[in-house]
Amino acid sequence: MTNDDTDKRAGKGANALWGGRFAGGADDVMRAINASIDVDRRLADHDIDASLAHAQMLAACGVISSEDAKAIAKGLEDIRAEIAAGAFPFSAALEDIHMNIEARLTEKIGEAGARLHTARSRNDQVATDFRLWTRTALDRLGLQIEALQRALITQAEAHADTVMPGFTHLQTAQPVTFGHHCMAYVEMLSRDAGRLSDARARLNESPLGAAALAGAPYPINRDMTAETLGFAAPMANSLDAVSARDFVMEALAGLTICAVHLSRLAEEIVLWTSPRFGFARLSDRFSTGSSIMPQKRNPDAAELIRAKVGGMAGAFQSMVLMMKALPLAYAKDMQEDKAPLFRAVDDFELCLAAMTGMIGDLDVRPEAMAAAAGEGYSTATDLADWLVRELGLPFREAHHVTGRLVAEAERRDIALHELPVEAMKAVEPRIDERALGVLSPADSVASRTSYGGAAPVRVREQIARWKEKLG
Ligand code: ARG
Repeated sequence: MTNDDTDKRAGKGANALWGGRFAGGADDVMRAINASIDVDRRLADHDIDASLAHAQMLAACGVISSEDAKAIAKGLEDIRAEIAAGAFPFSAALEDIHMNIEARLTEKIGEAGARLHTARSRNDQVATDFRLWTRTALDRLGLQIEALQRALITQAEAHADTVMPGFTHLQTAQPVTFGHHCMAYVEMLSRDAGRLSDARARLNESPLGAAALAGAPYPINRDMTAETLGFAAPMANSLDAVSARDFVMEALAGLTICAVHLSRLAEEIVLWTSPRFGFARLSDRFSTGSSIMPQKRNPDAAELIRAKVGGMAGAFQSMVLMMKALPLAYAKDMQEDKAPLFRAVDDFELCLAAMTGMIGDLDVRPEAMAAAAGEGYSTATDLADWLVRELGLPFREAHHVTGRLVAEAERRDIALHELPVEAMKAVEPRIDERALGVLSPADSVASRTSYGGAAPVRVREQIARWKEKLG
C-alpha cells in the first residue's frame, strides 16, 4: 500500500508531472484504475539503474551538465537507500514507480532532477526496466532448475540399479530403473533451461532512448546506455522498442512448459507415495498430516505444484489476449503486463524449491518397486525378443506366441517365469529353459543397452555425462 494516497506531493489539483495541460485533477476512480505502483514498485532497483545509465550518457553527450548528472546520481542512490529501508513515500497519485522516483528526485535535488527525463519517456523506461527485471529473473530460474537437476542426479546415482515398473497408459509396461526415471526429468529440465536462456538472449536488447515511440531529437548515445546496462545492443527500431512484449510472452511460455514438467513429476510423487504404490515416502519436511485422520501423510506440496501450473498457463494466456490487437506503439493496456509475470515467477520459484526439497529427501523403497516391476507380465516383451533372437521368429509371430503364453500364465494365475517349460513348449515346441533367463525384471533392464536405454550401465553413462556438464 502506498503511504499517502490522497497525496499532496502529487498535487491534489493538476498532476505535478504533466499538469501544464490540465486545469483540474483526476477523479479518485481514475487515479485508482491508473495506478500501478503497488505492482511495479518491484522494478525500483532496475528503474534506478536505468536512470543512472541514462543521466551518465546525457552528460557524456553534452545534453545535460556533468554537475547535474552527479546530483542525479547521488539523489538516485539516496532514493535506492530509502526504498531499501522502507522509508520511501510511495504514492498512488504518482501512478507508477517511474513517476514516484522522478518526483522524489526532483523533491530532493531540484532542477537537476527535472532534467533527467530529457530524451526518454516512460514508454522506453518501463520497457527497459521490465527487460532488466525479466533478465535477472531468468538467470535466477536457470540456477534453480540446475539445483533440481542435481537433486535428481543424486537420486539417480543412488538408484541406477533400483528396478521399477515403467508404465505406459499407467499400465505396467516394461521394467526400468528409478535412476533412469530420474534422468528422464534431468533431460526435460535441460530443455526447459535452454528455452529460458534462449528467451534471455533474445530479450537482451535495450529500448532506452527510443523515447515515446519515435526516438529523440538529441545527440544521445544508445550504445552507451545499452552497454552500461549489460544489453547486447540497443533495439534497432524505436517503435518496436516501446511496443514489444514478446519477451514477456516468451518467458511465460518457457516457464509454463517447465512447470508442466514439474507437474508431471509432482503427479508421479503423488502416485509413488500413495500407500497403494508404496514406491517412496516423503520426508516429514515435505508432508502434511490430516486434522482428522491420524494415519495420513499428504503430499500437499506436490499437489500444489500440480495446481499452480494453471495460474502460470493463465498468465501466459492473459499476456497473449492483452497484446493480440494492440496497434503500435504503446497503449496503457500494457501496464497490465507485470502482475502476470511477477506472480508466475514467484509461484514458479516456489515450485522449483519445493520440488528440489521433495526429491532431495525422497525415501525410495526398492523392494516395493521391485515387487511391482515383476507384476503385470512386464517382461513379456523380453520373451518375444528372445524368440526373435534365439529362434529367428519374425517379431509379429513372436508377439503372438508370447501373448498365448501370457494368457496361459494368467489362466493359472502365476507369473510368466513360473510357467513350466512344458507349458511353454505346448505353445511353441522350440522354446527351452534358456528363455527363463530373460524373464526377471533385473535381467530385462540389464538387456536394454541401446543408447539412452534403461540398462544400469547406460544410466551410469548418462549420470556421468550430466555430472561433467553441471560441474
Ligand atoms: N506504468 C506504465 C506501464 O507500466 C508506464 C508507461 C506509461 N506510459 C504512458 N504513456 N502512459 O506501462
